[in-house]
Amino acid sequence: MPEKLTEPPPETTPPASVEEHPSGFQVKPQAPASPAEPATQRAHVFELEGVGVSYGTKPAVRDVNFGINEREITALIGPSGCGKSTLIRCLNRMNDLIPSARVSGSILYHGQNLYGSDIDPVQVRKRIGMVFQKPNPFPKSIYDNIAFGPRVLGMKGNMDEIVENALQRGALWDEVKDRLKTNAFGMSGGQQQRLCIARTLAIEPDVILMDEPCSALDPISTGRIEDLMLELRERYAIVIVTHNMQQAARVSQRTAFFTVELDEDEKNRTGRVVEFDETEKVFTNPSDPRTEAYVTGKVG
Ligand SMILES: Nc1ncnc2c1ncn2[C@@H]1O[C@H](COP(=O)(O)OP(=O)(O)O)[C@@H](O)[C@H]1O
Ligand SMILES: [Mg+2]
Repeated sequence: MPEKLTEPPPETTPPASVEEHPSGFQVKPQAPASPAEPATQRAHVFELEGVGVSYGTKPAVRDVNFGINEREITALIGPSGCGKSTLIRCLNRMNDLIPSARVSGSILYHGQNLYGSDIDPVQVRKRIGMVFQKPNPFPKSIYDNIAFGPRVLGMKGNMDEIVENALQRGALWDEVKDRLKTNAFGMSGGQQQRLCIARTLAIEPDVILMDEPCSALDPISTGRIEDLMLELRERYAIVIVTHNMQQAARVSQRTAFFTVELDEDEKNRTGRVVEFDETEKVFTNPSDPRTEAYVTGKVG
């Protein structure tokens, strides 16, 4: 069982099987994926029940119910404005930073209420990393971009090794090992995005959230990020928002298709999940005609 997301009382010793994390809370590391392992045996990292988000009085997305499995890539697809970014931001409490945003319903993270009064959102964001549409490296060297989080967290270990390890896992090491002290802004857009992923990996997250991580990248860089996602999937749960149907079909195991509906009083357009299922099913044999129209390119 995972430990609490909060600081454990001083007398508590975490069980040996549970990874200690410098953010102050521990979760069990996700065991490596085995190709023979049935998907049904994967545990939920998140469970969403009746989740809705409003900005002020205007609902943006409502009634979202699905689980996100460990060691799987879950894709969120659907037309612009249907609440995909709003929903993914719920998963690491980024909406807390938007004063008008109100989250309702229940989100469990390893069985704990992510919005419980005892949960520190800053600690949550150290466990649940996020990568955005536009690469956003710090105006620092490649090395310092990676070392920043581990230094702030006071992570133990040799910093050179931490940096190399994160860059290896971010599939960037071979390209940058000879220029670690140069400014990250000198890298290509695709390299900057892999740097942002590596920066997230350096603080040993459990989940990686990606909001359209490839939409500013060329096809070759996009292919590299997709390959990287498939590697990372062996250790992490990944949630990706994408406009690219082929990308969702290529990388994800599960897909949530969102659409926008008019409210009963026809005043508000609110996002809802029309279908959530295995990606193959959503793309080849969807149960809702709206999903079919979208994935075959007839609308959207
Ligand atoms: N910070 C915000 N303040 C107010 N409304 C917002 C904010 N962010 C998004 N919205 C609104 O919420 C709805 C869903 O937006 P968003 O989550 O960005 O959709 P998507 O990512 O699917 O394009 C839209 O109507 C959008 O205008
Ligand atoms: Mg968006």
